[in-house]
Amino acid sequence: MNILLTGGAGYIGSHTIVELDKAGHSVVVVDNLVNSSEESLNRVAKIIGKQVPFVKADVRDAAAMNDLFDKFKIDAVINFAGLKAVGESVAKPLEYYENNMNACFVLLDAMRKHNCKNFIFSSSATVYGDPAIIPITEECPKGQCTNPYGKTKSMLEEVLIDLQKADPEWNVVLLRYFNPIGAHQSGLIGENPNGIPNNLMPYITQTAVGLRKELGVFGNDYDTPDGTGVRDYIHVCDLANGHVCALKAIERKCGLAIYNLGTGHGNSVLDVVKAFEKANNLKVPYSIKPRRAGDIATCYCNPAKAKAELGWEAKYGIEDMCRDAWNFQKNNPEGY
Ligand code: NAD
Ligand code: UD1
Repeated sequence: MNILLTGGAGYIGSHTIVELDKAGHSVVVVDNLVNSSEESLNRVAKIIGKQVPFVKADVRDAAAMNDLFDKFKIDAVINFAGLKAVGESVAKPLEYYENNMNACFVLLDAMRKHNCKNFIFSSSATVYGDPAIIPITEECPKGQCTNPYGKTKSMLEEVLIDLQKADPEWNVVLLRYFNPIGAHQSGLIGENPNGIPNNLMPYITQTAVGLRKELGVFGNDYDTPDGTGVRDYIHVCDLANGHVCALKAIERKCGLAIYNLGTGHGNSVLDVVKAFEKANNLKVPYSIKPRRAGDIATCYCNPAKAKAELGWEAKYGIEDMCRDAWNFQKNNPEGY
């Protein structure tokens, strides 16, 4: 298939290009580079041996999107484009709602005008809020999101569900990612956050490389085995491969389909620190800090539905994730 990746120069998008190419698909990327660099696409070219077509444009630009669909015959779209920093979304709600929602509306309109009705959406475990069921299945009711970023994911899911209901020709796959970390084994592509990282793994790797003094562990009084927050960390290459498998649902005309993409295993913050130290033979200095506002104790999924229906399951473990995250960081201490 010929697949358009919006936001394809970003962290998950760049890894997904590699997996799609491996599976024999063709890729076109559109990105405005607001949170990425074209260098990630040059690195991808080194891995797959060819440069993928790249359109530098904002997905909110309807003329640019219509031109793109005129120029390329696109069979399906994977929509990675969006702003994703939780804290920033609280400070700049209008910018987040406007970018994430509008980009999706403009894209969907250009798609239907060009009769391309196959759509994969990057959603998040954040839509479950403080989950009612652990491990989380897709039947778990959605919960209250505590920030505008999470609300854009939850609202766009509703928009897509309504669109598919109104026009059953659409195939819509909502992929709810758990916590992607790690990097491609080559060390050429990986996570490249701007400024001080919000997420755990980039904070650990930047501490290990000496860019940060120590990791702050946000709370050790949660109702978890060691008191620190438990999450379902998933290797970004496994997650990327989940998109290849999601295309199978599209091929068999799934209508609406929702999948959790996680490993099904929970690791605490201190488990991740220990695994990182063991995998890389390094020490990560840390100290216990107060809880972070909006955090929950435990979040991990039951990934059985994706296995049964897509034949997808994660194959990498936490030490692989730690090894590959560090490999990218040490090869690229200042990022791209
Ligand atoms: P990323 O920031 O690395 O990638 C997103 C890309 O979208 C960036 O390259 C950015 O430049 C681009 N972009 C943003 N707005 C755009 C616009 N209006 N027009 C064109 N391009 C635009 O983030 P990522 O980690 O690769 O995440 C990809 C998607 O997955 C996002 O939608 C994110 O919300 C979602 N997601 C990520 C995680 C995670 O932990 N990384 C978890 C759940 C969901
Ligand atoms: C966060 C977002 C979520 C988003 C996801 C991916 C919040 C509340 N949630 O998930 O909406 O989809 O990122 O972008 O921000 N931790 C530390 N020290 C740190 C960083 C994190 O102890 O410096 C802890 C956190 O308290 C948590 C765990 O590590 O227990 C994972 O945190 P993080 O990587 O930010 O992911 P989430 O909070 O699960």
